Amino acid sequence: MRENYFFKKEKEAGALKRLAIVLAAGQGKRMKSKLYKVLHPVCGKPMVGHVLNAVQEAGCERSIVVVGHGAEAVKSYLGSSAEYVLQEQQLGTGHAVKQAGPLLAGEEGVTLVICGDTPLVTAETLEALFDLHHRKGAAATVLTAKMEQPHGYGRVIRGANGTVERIVEQKDCSPEEAAVQEINTGTYCFDNAKLFAALEKVTNKNAQQEYYLTDVIGILVQANEIVEGYAVTDVRESIGVNDRVALAEAEAVMRERIVRGHMLNGVTVIDPASTYIGAEVTIGADTVLYPGTVLSGKTTIGEDCVLGPAAEIEDSVIQDGAKVKQSVLSRAEVGRETTVGPFAYLRPGTKLGAHVKIGDFVEIKNATLDDGSKVSHLSYVGDAKVGKNVNIGCGAITVNYDGYNKSITEIEDDAFVGSNVNLIAPVKVGKGAYVVAGSTITQSVPENDLAIARTRQENKPGYAEKIRARAKAKKQRQQES
Ligand code: UD1
Ligand code: CA
Repeated sequence: MRENYFFKKEKEAGALKRLAIVLAAGQGKRMKSKLYKVLHPVCGKPMVGHVLNAVQEAGCERSIVVVGHGAEAVKSYLGSSAEYVLQEQQLGTGHAVKQAGPLLAGEEGVTLVICGDTPLVTAETLEALFDLHHRKGAAATVLTAKMEQPHGYGRVIRGANGTVERIVEQKDCSPEEAAVQEINTGTYCFDNAKLFAALEKVTNKNAQQEYYLTDVIGILVQANEIVEGYAVTDVRESIGVNDRVALAEAEAVMRERIVRGHMLNGVTVIDPASTYIGAEVTIGADTVLYPGTVLSGKTTIGEDCVLGPAAEIEDSVIQDGAKVKQSVLSRAEVGRETTVGPFAYLRPGTKLGAHVKIGDFVEIKNATLDDGSKVSHLSYVGDAKVGKNVNIGCGAITVNYDGYNKSITEIEDDAFVGSNVNLIAPVKVGKGAYVVAGSTITQSVPENDLAIARTRQENKPGYAEKIRARAKAKKQRQQES
């Protein structure tokens, strides 16, 4: 309690309120896409989602997202985690920030402005930016980066004494300015009141006839305000995604970062370069990922699992100790110590209990298989409810579809379904029942009964010889004619 009290006191005395404006109104023409730029995913998560997460992790109490192109799509993705203002016409980044003015008018604090297309900026970097801004008592602090290929970015122009003087956009650069390698990442801290006062003075007299947010820097310097630059430690954080080339670069950086994070958390990754893990995937310690493993969506992996080689798992839950190799899983649940594959396909609605075995060339869809059941080879189990310790033989299938309707197959605990059985749904195999191989089952089988549904075998002595002779003679006649 005491500690908490002092922490609060310190906060009141020192740090200012943190606010954020995320720019996400542009269409992203250079993406040449039907999808709005900031919704393009990087490691499975829309860019603007990465940005908002970093902003909120860095302690921003309010986040205003400026929306325009695709406003409804962006709002429905981010939901209630942010506030929104609409920028009806995209007249530039300065104009975009100005739209947030009414919402932030009464606020006293530091306003972080960040672009929705810079998904790699981390919360730690934002923390460091806030920190420097605060320590220097600055009116503005720009997050900069040294780039060997600065083309396309705004250049940070420093004065003789090394202080930031202004930012010049690529299209407005003189040859000397274009040679500058320090770029504007598009992320800044501003004193909230000074930001909106300076925005009043921004004009659109430039190559793109846009109201540039970057002009605020020069305006504040002119007014003798303190303006600082903070160079990001890892320049890769500053990638701004304007086209698909940068999108792939961002993906590569993010992918490496995610995989590394999991390794540091105790996951063994045999070959990081061929392992793809989505931004929202969680993995328990001591799990081993073999090459070619692709984990995406909201997938949760437990501890001590072994995945891959070549396991593609999307929006699924895998419990501790499970093994999945060379298989595709989508919206499936795999229980503790269960094994899947090689070459299995678990489709949406698959729920496997503990110690289940799903073997090669098995497809499961919308089906529950309880603890200890086995489907070892070449089966299709769809729209089914399978109990505990059931054995489904090689090639057995549920016949769940008549061209119009899907029907349910129920197989109770301890039942045994022989090889190559067709279970014509709706049908039920009772507890402990036995279905003989090759049967086509159209009626339910009561508990502990044996069902056989195939024609009785007849042997014709010596008939094979006759058949061969007949076939041989036919072939000869054909060759002679
Ligand atoms: C901007 C910066 C540039 C910096 C670069 C970093 C300006 C003028 N330039 O250039 O100095 O190096 O980012 O990546 O700020 N947006 C709106 N409304 C608008 C215009 C843009 O919301 O009217 C949004 C876009 O959706 C995007 C962000 O602002 O998320 C940046 O806009 P973009 O056109 O990509 O700016 P850059 O040319 O990359
Ligand atoms: Ca950009």
